[in-house]
Amino acid sequence: MKLIIDTANIDKIKDYLNYLPVDGVTTNPSILKKEGNIDFVEHMKEIRSLIGSDKSLHIQTIATDYDGIIKDARKIVELIDKNVYIKVPVSKDGLAAIKTLKAEGFKITATAIYSEIQALLATELGADYLAPYVNRMTNLNSDPYEVINNVAYNIAATNSETHILAASFKNIDQVLKAVQAGSTHVTVGSDVVDLFLKDANISKAVTDFSNDWNDVHGNFEI
Ligand code: G3P
Repeated sequence: MKLIIDTANIDKIKDYLNYLPVDGVTTNPSILKKEGNIDFVEHMKEIRSLIGSDKSLHIQTIATDYDGIIKDARKIVELIDKNVYIKVPVSKDGLAAIKTLKAEGFKITATAIYSEIQALLATELGADYLAPYVNRMTNLNSDPYEVINNVAYNIAATNSETHILAASFKNIDQVLKAVQAGSTHVTVGSDVVDLFLKDANISKAVTDFSNDWNDVHGNFEI
């Protein structure tokens, strides 16, 4: 499971980089809104400097029309760096932009995927990543895991180099089910990431081990 962090919070990213196998960071306008009135370009550059060039940084366009998406993508690459994955919602204009941007050599994450057909079309247009919205699909009484499984099958059957980067999670079970269904990558918000190791049994086991050593040796050192 390749873990990508779905946050623009600098402190959280720094903390996670210390102990988690972070493979990258994804952002979108709603995630950026949580950080307040930031300097967008400087903030993205700070994230890039934290994660380095070997991890993926995914930045979403703002415009909703074809021309605006193309303009946003070029500006992001110009102002931040050429290795950024441009996140483009899979709308009609989004697909047209993905087609143009891939022809120009951009790295693309096709996002706001609620259906299998959106994913298959974006795959065929060469998107590097697909972001099916698991929790949102669940809320719409759609089965995100069936979609992920079918799309993963199509990727394998067509020898596509596209990766599924499942997104939109509200609990660990959704993350695990997305991976089991065939998502090689997941992008998880800090609300769920912070639950990964919160199990009280873990801290009790650690404390018990230390105390058992101390019972014999009278200290907590080897
Ligand atoms: O990457 C997309 C993700 O941030 C959407 O999450 O919780 O708004 O469905 P959510």
